[in-house]
Amino acid sequence: MNAILKTENLNLWYGQNHALKDINLEMPQNQVTALIGPSGCGKSTFLKTLDRMNDLVPTVKIEGKVLYRDQNIFDPQVDVTWLRRHVGMVFQKPNPFPMSIYDNIAYGPRTHGIHNKKQLDEIVEKSLRGAAIWDEVKDRLKKSALGLSGGQQQRLCIARALAVEPKVILLDEPTGELDPESTIMIYEILRRLNQEFHKTVIVVEQKIMVLCAYVSRLIVLDKGQVMFDAPARRITDEIKLFQSLGINVPRVVELGQMLKKAGLYAGEIPTELTGAEKMVREVCADAAV
Ligand SMILES: Nc1ncnc2c1ncn2[C@@H]1O[C@H](COP(=O)(O)OP(=O)(O)O)[C@@H](O)[C@H]1O
Ligand SMILES: [Mg+2]
Repeated sequence: MNAILKTENLNLWYGQNHALKDINLEMPQNQVTALIGPSGCGKSTFLKTLDRMNDLVPTVKIEGKVLYRDQNIFDPQVDVTWLRRHVGMVFQKPNPFPMSIYDNIAYGPRTHGIHNKKQLDEIVEKSLRGAAIWDEVKDRLKKSALGLSGGQQQRLCIARALAVEPKVILLDEPTGELDPESTIMIYEILRRLNQEFHKTVIVVEQKIMVLCAYVSRLIVLDKGQVMFDAPARRITDEIKLFQSLGINVPRVVELGQMLKKAGLYAGEIPTELTGAEKMVREVCADAAV
């Protein structure tokens, strides 16, 4: 496997609290992976560790390795700015800087030494287009980013992450504060970033329905340990595990289980709507015979 990020026996403690336990994961290039699990299970900690965002927490102790393209990111010679240029992060609460829309996007490239106006203009447009917000803001680039709606602010934050052309984008519950419409918009962007711009995406998300529709791989954490790591459609193999962790499986999965139990359906249990339609058609066709 061509892993862009890899963890080897990764353990993390906050004081006595063993928050990540022996995590061995490989993230291949160009994959969209989602992390899910109960509150406090270590999702944010894991994501932050990949970008060295918690090694300054006073009580933290980290053992094991995180390799970005075979480079252990904890090696003393690794420059955190270099790492974050390759591995970008978007948080749950949209956090635009209190400056103009333009300056929010130009901020990263400027810190990397780009000051040419034409070049910055191009980066700003390309990044805003990449995050599907260009049309909404192109006439107000000099206005404050704080005047945007929540969904727009989150897309701006994705654009800001894109501006330094990272290879990997980490997102920690990016739709946690958004309505269903904005949620779908974010996932459409992530799909496009992956398919057209070949970004590797790792997203923490609680909304399992969108995960089944948009991600190729689902990792479940519980108490700092990996409990499940498989394509999202395989959640049907481990329904009890999901339920025991308080993760609601999609309603179509429950429906599939009920129909199976009742002897009305023998096929694969669907996890998203296209599969659900197919199941319903089969059940109806059988009923009509
Ligand atoms: N900065 C911190 N200092 C001390 N403990 C922390 C810190 N951040 C998280 N924790 C603890 O680590 C565990 C995992 O937390 P977190 O990664 O935030 O979980 P999740 O994102 O899955 O809700 C929890 O027990 C939490 O209390
Ligand atoms: Mg969290």
